[in-house]
Amino acid sequence: MGRVSNKIALVTGGGSGIGRASAIILAREGAVVLVTDLNLDTASETVELINASGGNSRAMQQDTTVENQWQEVMGSLRRQEGGLHILLNNAGVSNGSRLLKDTTLNDWRRVNAANVEGVYLGTKYGIELMEEDGSGGSIINISSIYGKVGAVGSVAYNASKGAVCVFSKGAALECGKAKNNIRVNTIHPGFIETGMTRERLADEATRKWSLSRTPIGRLGQPEDIANGVLYLASDESSFVTGAELVIDGGFTAI
Ligand SMILES: NC(=O)c1ccc[n+]([C@@H]2O[C@H](COP(=O)([O-])OP(=O)(O)OC[C@H]3O[C@@H](n4cnc5c(N)ncnc54)[C@H](O)[C@@H]3O)[C@@H](O)[C@H]2O)c1
Repeated sequence: MGRVSNKIALVTGGGSGIGRASAIILAREGAVVLVTDLNLDTASETVELINASGGNSRAMQQDTTVENQWQEVMGSLRRQEGGLHILLNNAGVSNGSRLLKDTTLNDWRRVNAANVEGVYLGTKYGIELMEEDGSGGSIINISSIYGKVGAVGSVAYNASKGAVCVFSKGAALECGKAKNNIRVNTIHPGFIETGMTRERLADEATRKWSLSRTPIGRLGQPEDIANGVLYLASDESSFVTGAELVIDGGFTAI
């Protein structure tokens, strides 16, 4: 208990899956959590779960691809909570399974807007607000195993998650240069059972294949990633920046 007490956190895409589990764990460990999502109803459900068990949380609707909505969210944090210490840039989308020859420019732009532009905007405005407080902060950007290795039928997603990874290293170096005590890291989940993967993993052959590629012998749960988020959010990781935390049951070890 209390691993992130007295910290203010923002979780994007917090209405489902990894974002919801992370918001719950951060709140359980003492953070005040602002949960945002495209879907205000699901973000509000996360907040109800947190507040019902004694946490301190509120919800806002946010499309992370829209710049002025970031300015509104940061303004709201500044006025209501008084700052920001932990930012989880989690909101993201998949492109299903689509070969390069079938990937349209619109597919490409939609995936990269959500997965890359949203993370860029969040990191930019997150740093700005964290610097006001002066006590530093932790920015955690959700990449993927597919930001490290290629996959057939995932080229737009591959590109977006690879971008998140190296973008985050650049941002970490700029924060290091500014000596603002803000850390920027990425998490690379393997196959996690969430809303994003529910349909795909319901297909017997795909599930079997995913399990066969996961040496530890099970698929991941959102809490497996949320525990990594908690570590990177807490002061236990105060010497960790520009790093990649792979949580994939051994997928990338093969
Ligand atoms: N599930 C996996 O196996 C897996 C593996 C690797 C990486 N990831 C990444 O983890 C992150 C979370 O995914 P998840 O599996 O929990 O998926 P999910 O679909 O369960 O949750 C994603 C949430 O993000 C929200 N969202 C989508 N676009 C948004 C936008 N533009 N603005 C605000 N909110 C938006 C959705 O409404 C949803 O609530 C994503 O970045 C995803 O790419 C997931």
